[in-house]
Amino acid sequence: MEVTKKTAKRIYLIGFMGSGKSTLGPRLAEALDFDFIDLDNLIEEAEGLQISEIFKIKGEAYFRKREQEILETTASYTNTVFATGGGLPCFNDNMTSMNKLGISLYLQLSEAPLFKRLKQSTSRPLIMNMSDQELKFYIRSTLAVRSKYYQKATLIIDANQSLHDLTLDCTSILK
Ligand code: S3P
Repeated sequence: MEVTKKTAKRIYLIGFMGSGKSTLGPRLAEALDFDFIDLDNLIEEAEGLQISEIFKIKGEAYFRKREQEILETTASYTNTVFATGGGLPCFNDNMTSMNKLGISLYLQLSEAPLFKRLKQSTSRPLIMNMSDQELKFYIRSTLAVRSKYYQKATLIIDANQSLHDLTLDCTSILK
C-alpha cells in the first residue's frame, strides 16, 4: 500500500541519538499540518524528572518500561508526528507496535556524522562524560546492534542532508 499522510495517521521518527528526530519532527509536523510530540518529553512530564535523572535514580530497565507504556498511549492521538528516543525501537517489540499504530521513518546516519553531532551532547545519560575514543566505540557497537531494529522501519530516509532538504524529502514521500 502506498503511504500518504492520509493513511499514516501517526508518524514515528526513529533513529540513533543525534540523527535529528527532535529537530525534524516539528518541521515535518508543520509541513503536514500534523501535531508534534516528543516521547522523551512525555516521559519527563509523567515522571517529573529529566531523562538523565530517570536513568540515575530509577535505572535503564525502569526507563525502558515507561518508554513502552508511553508509546502505547500514542494510540489515542491522530495526525501526529512523534520523535522517539534512540533506544525505543530496540526494546519490548516497540517496532511492531509503531508499525501497527502508524508508520515509522528511520533517519539513517552513519558513524562519522553521528560522532560529530554527539561530541557536542552533554545531557544524554548513555554517553555522558565519554572520551572521543569511547564515544566512537559506543556509536560503532551500539549502531551494529540497533540497525537491525531500525531497518524494520516503514521508510528509510538519508538523514545526512540539511533540515530543509530532509523536510522536503519526507513530505514529498508522504505527499
Ligand atoms: C536513548 C536516547 C535518548 C533518550 C535516552 C536513551 C538511547 O533519546 O531516550 O537518553 O537509548 O539511545 P534521543 O535519541 O532523542 O537522544
